[in-house]
Amino acid sequence: MSDITRDATHSDRNLALELVRVTEAAALAASAWIGRGDKNSADGAAVDAMRRAFDAVAITGTVVIGEGEMDEAPMLYIGEKVGAGGMAVDIAVDPLEGTSITAKGGPNAIAVLAVAESGGFLHAPDIYMDKIAVGPGLPAGVVDLDATPAQNLRELARAKKCDINDLVVCTLDRDRHKEMIRACREAGARIMLLGDGDVAGVVACSQPEAGVDIYMGSGGAPEGVLAAAAFRCIGGQLQGRLLYEDDSQVERAKAMGILDPHKKFSTHEMARGDVIFAATGVTTGAFLRGVRKTGQGAVTHSIVMRSKTGTVRYIEGHHNQTLKPGRFFA
Ligand code: FBP
Repeated sequence: MSDITRDATHSDRNLALELVRVTEAAALAASAWIGRGDKNSADGAAVDAMRRAFDAVAITGTVVIGEGEMDEAPMLYIGEKVGAGGMAVDIAVDPLEGTSITAKGGPNAIAVLAVAESGGFLHAPDIYMDKIAVGPGLPAGVVDLDATPAQNLRELARAKKCDINDLVVCTLDRDRHKEMIRACREAGARIMLLGDGDVAGVVACSQPEAGVDIYMGSGGAPEGVLAAAAFRCIGGQLQGRLLYEDDSQVERAKAMGILDPHKKFSTHEMARGDVIFAATGVTTGAFLRGVRKTGQGAVTHSIVMRSKTGTVRYIEGHHNQTLKPGRFFA
């Protein structure tokens, strides 16, 4: 099997560290738009910067989770080739996960990507996915998309040897989740509502300091694949099932190779083989600090992890603007 964590021609070079530069570039560019009420410009800046940063990475990457189909996205569209040439890999990106958060100056916006061997990622269309996630160290199948919220909370409390009252459920603050939220509260659990950003919400289950025991609810399917990639590295269980608003979405999923449109996907079915996950905070959130401007430039906070070794690295980047004026916030 190929080893995507090492470049074939530079065996001591770790691709994971190069990929952090890509998410750093996107986060730095997006940070100029924090709190400016313009989510499209924030997203555009992140996409543009991420696309350019890929040019320096020695891979032949194919975007499989990106900004949309070729006719709807100018850059990082599904099928686009990125990288300076090298090992063939598949790439999942969300240059700015939390466009509205960034526009409003809220918490948890990140620039994120994941890389897998060719064919490693579920080719998820940009539709909703029902998700349920718990962190590492729990029995396989402790929670299930097909169980009720009360059943899942009961099983999780049993596995964690705690009371349901001690459990915190994280979900997106959406009307479609009202019934699920009511059922969780009735069972005794507390709810942590996110305005946006369910990659960070799912990953929070694997971070004890985030105070999240379980993630439930629907969000973007591409975000589900990115969260699965993170879990492959850091541990945790995520199940996802695509949700369809009409028949055309079912046809789109089938055209993207999903033979059973109602399948319940496991973490490994969404992100197979060796996987690398990298993210940089744009605004401060549960697991990353946001971009902080300094007199000389900016400080970034990133995470990069590999499924092969399970190594998790937090990287603080001090970017010196005085050496290359205009580089970060142009
Ligand atoms: P964007 O960054 O594309 O705005 O996505 C933010 C987000 O909250 C995702 O994290 C989540 O998966 C999705 O939107 C939920 O969609 P909706 O806002 O339609 O409920």
